[in-house]
Amino acid sequence: MELYAWREKLAPYELAVEELVIKFRHMMSDYRAAGRYSPIEQVTGRVKTISSILDKANRKGVELEDIEKRIDDIAGIRIICQFEEDIMAVVAIIRQMTDLEVVSERDYLGEPKESGYRSYHVNVFYHVQTIYGHRRIRAEIQIRTLAMNFWAIIEHSLQYKYNGDIPTVVKERLMASARAVQQLDLEMSSIREDVVGSQGAFRRDAGNVADILNNLQNLYQIADKDAVLCIQREFYEIYKHGSKEELREFGRKLDKLAADKKAQKLRYG
Ligand code: GTP
Ligand code: MG
Repeated sequence: MELYAWREKLAPYELAVEELVIKFRHMMSDYRAAGRYSPIEQVTGRVKTISSILDKANRKGVELEDIEKRIDDIAGIRIICQFEEDIMAVVAIIRQMTDLEVVSERDYLGEPKESGYRSYHVNVFYHVQTIYGHRRIRAEIQIRTLAMNFWAIIEHSLQYKYNGDIPTVVKERLMASARAVQQLDLEMSSIREDVVGSQGAFRRDAGNVADILNNLQNLYQIADKDAVLCIQREFYEIYKHGSKEELREFGRKLDKLAADKKAQKLRYG
């Protein structure tokens, strides 16, 4: 038997996880930069540890040479959403991505596992380029709400503690808390519209303040400094005492002023 080169085998999985995490985090920041609500709240990823891979292979009777074919979560991505509705929005995004292939999907939302576990899983092939060439990597993307994640993490710790054999009383408690989590997600969904609206507005207002300060800084370099300091005072006044609408109006006026000044500067140097 040849020596199994774990480091080299796992390196492309590390790359796939890093790339996928970056891509999903970027989507999150794109939504936010656009002042829109992001269906993605958090993204994490991991490569399964060698000991977990071996444990799973043993459990399933998988030979070493078949590990990459038969174990589909060596690369794992977890996407956490605020609301249950966001989960299918994320799934729709994944289905549309042209840089991965969806292999299979598992809906443990409609049909929770026996343990009470709920999540949506999408198994994909993701392509990476390494110095050894192109590799097609299996990855498992788990999508769940914050509440579902809370439950799954606790349940997972208990599985570990009891070596996969959780006592019946504890199992029953876990089932009861799974039902409570489902109820919580349902309650939260009923206030989703409010939250989505206010988070969008919050980001837009934060973006507006950042734009104003950025404009002021640029103007300070090209326009009359005293005049810019005067505008800055006006900004702080409105910021402290004005309404959000006044601040937006101020932002629009300043945008126009900055654009005019820039045009003037281009024309006259
Ligand atoms: P595997 O043989 O492990 O792939 O199981 P499977 O194919 O029956 O299930 P699936 O691939 O859909 O889910 C596997 C992953 O989902 C696990 O590695 C966990 O991360 C998660 N998972 C599935 N069931 C449970 C559960 O009951 N509790 C927790 N905490 N996580 C679970
Ligand atoms: Mg599986």
